[in-house]
Amino acid sequence: MDSFLGGGRITWLGHAAFRVDSVGGKVVLIDPWLSNPKMPAGAREALTRVDAILPTHAHGDHLGDTVALAKRFHAEVPCIAELGHYLRAQGVEKTKPMNKGGTVTIAGDLKATMVSADHSSGYVDKSLGPLPVYLGEPAGFVLELENGFRLYHAGDTNVFGDMKLIGELYAPDIVLLPIGGNYTMGPREAAKAARLLASKRLLPMHYGTGSSLLGTPAELRAELQGSGIEVAELEPGGSLT
Ligand code: NI
Ligand code: MN
Repeated sequence: MDSFLGGGRITWLGHAAFRVDSVGGKVVLIDPWLSNPKMPAGAREALTRVDAILPTHAHGDHLGDTVALAKRFHAEVPCIAELGHYLRAQGVEKTKPMNKGGTVTIAGDLKATMVSADHSSGYVDKSLGPLPVYLGEPAGFVLELENGFRLYHAGDTNVFGDMKLIGELYAPDIVLLPIGGNYTMGPREAAKAARLLASKRLLPMHYGTGSSLLGTPAELRAELQGSGIEVAELEPGGSLT
């Protein structure tokens, strides 16, 4: 599978965290939990610019280092409206509050569309009290690069029937789906999701980073046998180009 990105690059930073380098040299981070146990050595230091950060929801393993990175790089942060309020209160300047079905332009000439996810989105900020604060609904993102390449990052989610609509509307070139189970769908549900999305390429994520995230790419491949859907397995730090 060489060069289907047409000059761009998708790098897995472990868990649900990805670095996307666009054809035009823009850097977009999705769910940047940089202290995840599979964070590749040197990947943090390699960040010398970040144009935009896409947090799918408020759980700590996805919101991660969003606040610090957004401040350091003056990055744009498209996110669901309530999470945007929280991030602004934390000093993030360039939030782009939005909601599901909306599309915003980021980094000048990229597009981020927010889509549904079937999950939850509470966040514990001890300065606000011991219980989780609800920061809007969880979401997924369809990111479109300058060359029209589209990737769908599902965030944390179970499979849901409207993934068919996401496939029909945005026809993503690659879909990034959680397979670990427990907090998200596992391989069986992710295989169904890939079929609903009618995707040709699936990059599994959100597995192997905790004792409860037991789903594996091998199980996913077994579920997808004969489907023609390619499972693009990466090691953390690995890239697709
Ligand atoms: Ni979550
Ligand atoms: Mn998660």
